Amino acid sequence: MTFRVGVIGGGQLARMMVPPAIELGIDIRVLAEAEGMSAAIAATGVGDYTDLETVRRFAETVDVVTFDHEHVPQSVLRALVEAGVAVHPGPDALQFAQDKLAMRERLGELGVPMPDWARVETPAELEEFLAGHGGRAVVKTARGGYDGKGVRVVESAAQAEDWFRALDEDGRGGALLVEELVEFRRELAQLVARRPSGDLTLWPVVESVQKNGVCAEVIAPAPGSAGRVAEMAARIGTTVAEELGVTGVLAVELFETTDERILVNELAMRPHNTGHWTIDGSTTSQFEQHLRAVLDLPLGATGHREPWSVMINILGGPADGDLDGPAARALADQPTAKLHLYGKGPRPGRKIGHVTVSGAELDAVVFDARAAAAFFDD
Ligand SMILES: Nc1ncnc2c1ncn2[C@@H]1O[C@H](COP(=O)(O)OP(=O)(O)O)[C@@H](O)[C@H]1O
Ligand SMILES: [Mg+2]
Repeated sequence: MTFRVGVIGGGQLARMMVPPAIELGIDIRVLAEAEGMSAAIAATGVGDYTDLETVRRFAETVDVVTFDHEHVPQSVLRALVEAGVAVHPGPDALQFAQDKLAMRERLGELGVPMPDWARVETPAELEEFLAGHGGRAVVKTARGGYDGKGVRVVESAAQAEDWFRALDEDGRGGALLVEELVEFRRELAQLVARRPSGDLTLWPVVESVQKNGVCAEVIAPAPGSAGRVAEMAARIGTTVAEELGVTGVLAVELFETTDERILVNELAMRPHNTGHWTIDGSTTSQFEQHLRAVLDLPLGATGHREPWSVMINILGGPADGDLDGPAARALADQPTAKLHLYGKGPRPGRKIGHVTVSGAELDAVVFDARAAAAFFDD
């Protein structure tokens, strides 16, 4: 029997599930938001993922539904589950990747270490939090943020006035999340994959370097993490995956604080940018593992093939993702670099590809990865 996996969302994450689907003989189908998206190579439909009928019709053509993004409304997800569709991750888990306030509340109940936080509905409540936290804090929209777009460091409630106003206009009694401004030494990410029947695997914890709120570079494993840091990250990742009942790949974004604590920043329940290195650097990539997990198939080994892998994102701007120009020069100059292009146009700041280099010496790996990625700079 050929297994059929349906992916909602036509971005690069869906696209990168295609090669392992082909290798395993899985029939992958994608419900894309528009024609010509990154995953067009596998797209079998274009439609509105917020429309239940559209999603239901798509679900009828596959054995399991999974995601390229977390934006499918809870009402649609729950209706699918009620209709007997296998949805992984399911709505009960996915809500904690869709709503940062719900995530903070639930992880708090589980005793998972986190920054100080509060739910604020009014500017006065935000002022109160600021007063208790040295006059500076991080305000976040609970939903819909990505690449730092719903995140702002503020020193007064006035600096979040537009977001409070949007809450009022929304009329659904929403709230903002406010957090202490964490003094972190670096950001880490723990990737986990879990099957519905419970088996779970972890990749080595990685360091993620953000620039302007966007993941820029990932070093796998995180330097100096062997031992205490890796154990804490693995424990947190395992707790979150099991307690929230996550199926498929889970990414737990973490802060390593200057006083050596590990705190959870946020969750993603799908393959994640900090796991792209696994395509070239691990025995089983996050995309293959995600397919195996959502189909409840045995999971693969997650060790690294070489001591170090470094992944660098390629952002569009002057550069595009065509295989001439900068890409051709990168291929010529850095033969050890594994170049991945997503077939996306050159909009400034847009993730159009990434490059991964693996090897035995971290300094050389970093140097070669940066050299390859630099061809795409202006
Ligand atoms: N409480 C915090 N303290 C310090 N920096 C933060 C905090 N929360 C977020 N950041 C910074 O902002 C980035 C984006 O925040 P995040 O909540 O992960 O939003 P997004 O959904 O856009 O990824 C983080 O990767 C981190 O660099
Ligand atoms: Mg984030």
